[in-house]
Amino acid sequence: MLNFDFYNPTHILFGTDRLESIDKYVPADATVLITYGGGSAKKNGLIDKVKTVLGNRKVYEFGGIEPNPRYETLVKAVEIIRNENIDFLLAVGGGSVIDGTKFITLASFYDGDSRDLLKYGFMPITSDVVKKTVPFGTVLTLPATGSEMNSGAVISYEHGKYPVMSELAFPKFSILDPTVTFTLPKIQVANGVIDTFVHVTEQYLTYPVDARIQDRIAEGILQTLIEIGETTIAESDNYDARANLVWCATLALNGVVGAGVPQDWATHMIGHELTALFGIDHGQTLAIVTPALLEVRSEQKRAKLLQYAQRVWHIESGSEEKKIDLAIQKTREFFESLGVKTHLSQYGIGADKIPVIVEQLKAHGMTALSETGDLTLDISRNILERAM
Ligand code: NZQ
Ligand code: ZN
Repeated sequence: MLNFDFYNPTHILFGTDRLESIDKYVPADATVLITYGGGSAKKNGLIDKVKTVLGNRKVYEFGGIEPNPRYETLVKAVEIIRNENIDFLLAVGGGSVIDGTKFITLASFYDGDSRDLLKYGFMPITSDVVKKTVPFGTVLTLPATGSEMNSGAVISYEHGKYPVMSELAFPKFSILDPTVTFTLPKIQVANGVIDTFVHVTEQYLTYPVDARIQDRIAEGILQTLIEIGETTIAESDNYDARANLVWCATLALNGVVGAGVPQDWATHMIGHELTALFGIDHGQTLAIVTPALLEVRSEQKRAKLLQYAQRVWHIESGSEEKKIDLAIQKTREFFESLGVKTHLSQYGIGADKIPVIVEQLKAHGMTALSETGDLTLDISRNILERAM
């Protein structure tokens, strides 16, 4: 097992009827800014319920945080924080609203051009850079990103998606009420299952380091997703299925699976370019890139792919090559069983766009990806060709 640091201070409040906890965990004298997205939380009455729980606290609202939250939108909230002396933020939404709120808090008291904060990539932004933040909590409405219990965000600016990491960006608390997610369109639930699945594979399908418990947690999450995936999409108000998805999504990216193991993230980095260039949903980009990447990298990932074939898909017979091929095929079939297409061409993107995607990877410095740092632009091109 590799050395690791594990730190996660987010208080999770899971289950039905948990909104009341907001009253306990938001200071009684706080001036609160509620952040939300394009309006789903407004329309279904969630924002009103949150405001009722906030009672006599002074409350402001900032809506309109779009999927793949944009820098230009978020800086408008920074103005409100400064002008209205906001001292608590409450993000009500999916990964985009929560990520956006993380950026808002980091930018609020940053002296200088807050676009600087987009340049750190996976290097954590420390309290030397950002001296003060506004504490925030979240009410999660979409199980997918794990943002509700991690310190990362992905912010869109111009034609790029920029990772922003900081220990200052952990939510103080997150309310995970599975019933709040019942209003999700089926495609967003499917995206959430796939995002969760691929968060795990990015931290599991690398090379063995004898991290037995991390492997078994990873395999447990993957098997749970395979068990409940189709059900939680077909039966949107099936509480048990959805509760399992919600907790899988949080656990997949709260630091537990990835502690002490090599991590890949090449699928995400290539996927981000597909979102930035063509507007394909995050989960769908992962469904396109994952099977192709596993095929191209099957030699580097051989030992873990064999373990995955056996323990997750229960493939016991055939040559090693056959087992690996079948495991990748089953992965693709699983994504497709959720109603998500796995080929770039099915999204109307032709092979003529591959050089443009590779050019963007180069422009964003994504030239040495993967758990071993040897996934070059040529290999990315090969993966994209396979993904057609
Ligand atoms: O904006 P509204 O109107 O709320 O509608 C949203 C949005 O259109 C809708 N939605 C959310 N909850 C709903 C609902 N509709 C009905 N009922 C509900 N309960 O769903 C749509 C998508 O929402 P979004 O927040 O964009 O989706 P998701 O949670 O998948 O977040 C995607 C973003 O997270 C980033 C992605 O790059 C992308 O920008 N990621 C963040 C990560 C992190 N912070 O750790 C890791 C991930 O790998 C990912 O990169
Ligand atoms: Zn993701």
